[in-house]
Amino acid sequence: MTEPSQELDRLPADFVWGVATASYQIEGAVAEDGRSPSIWDTFSHTPGMVEGGDTGDTACDHYHRWPEDIGLMERLGVDAYRFSIAWPRVVPGADGAVNAAGLDFYDRLTDALLAAGITPFPTLYHWDLPQVLQDRGGWPERETAERFAAYAGVVAERLGDRVQDWCTLNEPLCSAWIGHLEGRMAPGLTDLTAAVRASYHLHLGHGLAVQAIRAAAPDARVGIVNNLSPCEPATARPEDQAAAVRADGHNNRWWLDPIHGRGYPQDMLEVYGLDLPERPGDLATIAAPLDWLGLNYYFRTVVAADPAGPAPYVRQVDPPGARHTGMDWEIHPDGLETLLLRLTEEYGARRILVTENGAAYPDVVRADGTVDDPERTRFLEEHLAACARAVRKGAPVAGYFAWSLLDNFEWAYGYDKRFGLVHVDYPTQRRTIKGSGHRYTDLIRAHRARARRAA
Ligand code: IFM
Repeated sequence: MTEPSQELDRLPADFVWGVATASYQIEGAVAEDGRSPSIWDTFSHTPGMVEGGDTGDTACDHYHRWPEDIGLMERLGVDAYRFSIAWPRVVPGADGAVNAAGLDFYDRLTDALLAAGITPFPTLYHWDLPQVLQDRGGWPERETAERFAAYAGVVAERLGDRVQDWCTLNEPLCSAWIGHLEGRMAPGLTDLTAAVRASYHLHLGHGLAVQAIRAAAPDARVGIVNNLSPCEPATARPEDQAAAVRADGHNNRWWLDPIHGRGYPQDMLEVYGLDLPERPGDLATIAAPLDWLGLNYYFRTVVAADPAGPAPYVRQVDPPGARHTGMDWEIHPDGLETLLLRLTEEYGARRILVTENGAAYPDVVRADGTVDDPERTRFLEEHLAACARAVRKGAPVAGYFAWSLLDNFEWAYGYDKRFGLVHVDYPTQRRTIKGSGHRYTDLIRAHRARARRAA
């Protein structure tokens, strides 16, 4: 492979170098300052749902340690921080009343980020739906979309004078498919009708939130974050090829087509065999023009047909010779290039941010106090090189956010899977920048130096 820092020449001079986290994964303080329980509090406290019985009760204690965490970002030298806002801190109850203490936390965080020269990129929904709204039906119900927009407007009203880039939803696929169809995430349902309805109302909530954000902050730049995966057939057999088309519909087109004004893919409506809870005007709301598209990329999806399985009737196959991360996910940097080009060529994207990319490995702090993680370093370099190749071929890739700033609560996997550029020793909450974090700093510095020389 070419020395990555050389290949990265292709990245634009104003490329945004960031790190990302999410509220429930890092904040802890679940019962402080008026926060109400979210569906993830319920799910993680349900025996058997999370590895080791782990919960987000304390997590990285970021709610109290955020000044230290901003200090870590300064040491890493990043330009931007993508974090999520916990809806149950801001609007904890079913009555819609705003909790000032919850908003104040994100207000302080925003001010401190700006003072440190770090651009805030808040995400309004990274899976922590207030449990009170789940009790009223959650995302399968239209009311949740409307309440999401109201909450988004409240946050934009408060932070919109300082925040420019807003993300509505993080990975609605996970909320709908994994949370309502596969049952591996909150709220833990295995119901296709609920899943399809949830996907629709997530999209509607996104569209209504775009309107609410723009009404509160007219200069806002609004985007959505999808996790996408190139889908390939395991063999040349026609049934596996058809399976790959279904997998692509389920993982990619279902999430991209409606927000681009193409409606829901007809072939997938037939696969699911369900009607959408559509009302006149919804599809136009869902297709609100966006300022940027967020792409979270982790792995490619190779599939074979599985007629006996649940929709979309595919089974994942591990390609021969594949390399894997500690999640057992295939390492396939070319998939990132493929997706960036697809967003550009097929969907006409004008600004793309890689809003998450990263790898889990079982890191340990060595006797000398350092954390050596060459596999994660290589992962980062290879994926950044894929971004640079996509840029060379015309993709408008404007930034990259490493997942994650910190080791954190990896949902149903608990604390066992470490994605951070910074190691967290949970009993002491001691943070240690890993080798990959130092390498990220070097790449950022080298890029900035090249950009200065070229100016
Ligand atoms: O930790 C998650 C994150 O919350 C959403 N995207 C994928 C990450 C790794 O699984």
